[in-house]
Amino acid sequence: MSLINPLSFIRKAQEKGVAIAAFNVHNMETIQAVVEGAAEERAPVIIQTTPGTLKHAGIPFVAACVKEAAKIYDVPVALHVDHCPSYKMIVQCIQNGYTSVMIDGAELPYQENVALVKKVVEMAHFAGVAVEGELGRIGGTEDDMTVDEREATFTVPEEAKDFVEATGIDTLAIAIGTAHGVYKGEPKLDFERLSAIRNLVDLPLVLHGASGVPDDSIKEAVKRGICKINIATELKLPMAQAIQECFRSNPKENDPRKYMGAAKEAVKEVVREKIRLCSCSGLADEIRGV
Ligand code: 13P
Repeated sequence: MSLINPLSFIRKAQEKGVAIAAFNVHNMETIQAVVEGAAEERAPVIIQTTPGTLKHAGIPFVAACVKEAAKIYDVPVALHVDHCPSYKMIVQCIQNGYTSVMIDGAELPYQENVALVKKVVEMAHFAGVAVEGELGRIGGTEDDMTVDEREATFTVPEEAKDFVEATGIDTLAIAIGTAHGVYKGEPKLDFERLSAIRNLVDLPLVLHGASGVPDDSIKEAVKRGICKINIATELKLPMAQAIQECFRSNPKENDPRKYMGAAKEAVKEVVREKIRLCSCSGLADEIRGV
């Protein structure tokens, strides 16, 4: 299949009370692991790249790899740019076939943030591309972006309603106690806040920083209206562990197909687990009426 706008399947997930798993990828093997894992679960999937990954690999290279993967494995695949502060980079992503974008104007004063997001929405919708916005700030580190815990702020429900109406975004990422990266203690999610946002905003809601959040909390979040779950760190860790294990058992190994092959399989297992946790296995066939 060609890459598609994820709203078709995110809205279906919302209707059914399940979520779509979105995975951050960094190289060819992680792209393969995500799409292969999704195909084995018969689930639609979102592949995401941060601006840091795009600087590392190049937008055309990433887009070409994901397009090929979507053609080979017969499930709906969307390609999304995650936490992008740059209008210019978003335009380049769309020109290269991205079907979804997240504009991150969190550094800006509120009115400037709204104006930037609105400008992206107008341009992206013209191109048939979905837009994710974020209100509140998620702590932790992703890529070269670090938000100190003291600067992290939870989403205020009334502000979320205003932000959605003022910008015209399609999905809203909310801050309710998750963080990017590895947690120091067990994250405690503010479910009451999530429900209060859900009562005021009927857009699909997105949970960032889902790695390391206990399964029960993810399930509760989905029950209360989260329709997209973002996972990055929990793919990086098994990848690194599988490579380390390869070199521990054979320090002279020099065949990338061996250590990267093992890494790919380890990542794929986590992809399948997370898709099952989101209860979206089989959704690909349901969307097509198979
Ligand atoms: P984690 O690294 O905590 O999984 O966060 C992923 C994320 O939110 C990507 O935007």
